[in-house]
Amino acid sequence: MGAKVISSSVLQYPYLDPRLVTVLHPTGPAAEQFRLLHHRLDRLRSARPLAVVAFTSALAGEGKSTTVSNLAACAARRGRKTILVDCDLRRPGSSKLFGFDEVPPGLASILEQEVPVEQAIRQGPEGLSLIPAGRTADDPAHLLGSTRFRQLVETLRGAYQEIYLDLPPALAFADAHVAAAVADGVVMVVKSGETRAEVVREALDAFSGLPVIGCVLTGCDEAVPRYRKYYARS
Ligand SMILES: Nc1ncnc2c1ncn2[C@@H]1O[C@H](COP(=O)(O)OP(=O)(O)OP(=O)(O)O)[C@@H](O)[C@H]1O
Ligand SMILES: [Mg+2]
Repeated sequence: MGAKVISSSVLQYPYLDPRLVTVLHPTGPAAEQFRLLHHRLDRLRSARPLAVVAFTSALAGEGKSTTVSNLAACAARRGRKTILVDCDLRRPGSSKLFGFDEVPPGLASILEQEVPVEQAIRQGPEGLSLIPAGRTADDPAHLLGSTRFRQLVETLRGAYQEIYLDLPPALAFADAHVAAAVADGVVMVVKSGETRAEVVREALDAFSGLPVIGCVLTGCDEAVPRYRKYYARS
């Protein structure tokens, strides 16, 4: 019989999506992959400043929100002062995973100057702070390309060690490109076995000039049990 090791503080959150494995199943193999990803980012951090890391993908539905949400929770669990900003003002993903779907105020309200930044910051599990999208916007690229967005990220740099941005897909709209301009590093999420190589290349070309630091493959769960079995035998 398996036992679940979750922090009791998690119980105070009315909704946490089952995909938040680093919160709900922190000792499981899926959470281990996010810890590994965080460790790899840390290794890059030892060589260059990497406080603001943005996640995008060529197409919709490749796993950006799931990846960045778990990574941010993992960072917070490790004691880093961390904030996750849902910059997808068309289809907010990470806001939904933490139960802050379409609950203003959020990023849209900050950028429309309806509220000060502190009013839109929510507390998530493991000490993670979040700025949900709050609501969708008519012209996200305009908001994300604004001086106010840059100022927001600068403000967050002063208060948090790690800042994660959940961006929309890279190819369909300008939103991701303009938002990624404020990041120290951009990660391209790629759905393994689904997104064709030329599409990924197209997205990487579209982001040339921006600091793309690597790709994360999603949808390749098989590798984990295989390697675990290897270690169990040795
Ligand atoms: N590592 C993964 N392995 C397998 N499936 C995954 C993984 N990460 C996410 N998924 C699945 O992919 C789908 C899309 O996930 P998610 O919402 O995180 O993607 P997204 O890229 O943020 O989508 P959108 O473009 O709509 O913002 C979900 O059904 C999710 O369960
Ligand atoms: Mg998403």
